[in-house]
Amino acid sequence: MKLIDGKALAETLQLHLKDEVEALVKKGIVPGLVVILVGENPASQVYVRNKEKTALKLGFHSKVVRLPADTSEADLLTLIEEYNQDEAWHGILVQLPLPKHISEEKVLLAIDPNKDVDGFHPMNMGRLWAGNPVMIPSTPAGIMEMFKAYQVDLSGQRAVVVGRSNIVGKPMAQLMMMGNATVTIAHSRTKNLSALTKSADILVVAIGVAKFITADMVKKGAVVIDVGMNRDESLKLCGDVDFDEVKDVARLITPVPGGVGPMTITMLMEQTVRAAQLASQ
Ligand code: GUN
Repeated sequence: MKLIDGKALAETLQLHLKDEVEALVKKGIVPGLVVILVGENPASQVYVRNKEKTALKLGFHSKVVRLPADTSEADLLTLIEEYNQDEAWHGILVQLPLPKHISEEKVLLAIDPNKDVDGFHPMNMGRLWAGNPVMIPSTPAGIMEMFKAYQVDLSGQRAVVVGRSNIVGKPMAQLMMMGNATVTIAHSRTKNLSALTKSADILVVAIGVAKFITADMVKKGAVVIDVGMNRDESLKLCGDVDFDEVKDVARLITPVPGGVGPMTITMLMEQTVRAAQLASQ
């Protein structure tokens, strides 16, 4: 078994990104990322703080707008429109989940697709599924970078994605299909799930259930990517894969923490740099 070191890869990619930021700054453009957080979801607060920290480290113009949980949908849409119009901001990200009284669909539709660094706008999702992606969701983008760095050739491989979210499962499946893998999306209602996961040369797990994938569900020599971020019985951070068991079966495996997480943030920063480059052309 070999570990896929997401932390080290993220650091390497961030060094390159810093150079790109410096090149842009020389041209008078400072990549700008605004993150909007509505309410006090504890996990979202951690994610948002990490995004802000990384953006500042890379020399971005960065801001987090923290709004109370009772912010109206109309006020949020107005704010998004202001940032759409403001050229200082190349990336606009609204942290999900939103409070129940706000329509996620309306909010995602309101973001200028060219500033949609999350790649969640229906226009960007459609472009991805049509095979002409512009903005790609960060988590699957980061996983594709891991495949590249560790020379995982997807072509002709059987890939199984467990989880069907718009943020991870669906875009991940499409990106691997674009890499010529044969992809199956499994989810909570899939029958005989372990037979399916055991058939996978590449297994990507994003379901949010601690240590759900056990060694008997994994093919010997598979590449296993764990998108989960959970707490186990002793409140220790863990993934959706039972790492201690599965590491002896897999050829390559991502740890949690230190796997997919650092790559996700890095790809968000990369997309913001790309948005700034596109805006300057
Ligand atoms: N909530 C969980 N993951 C994400 C993400 O990648 N982007 C946003 N905006 N919200 C999230």
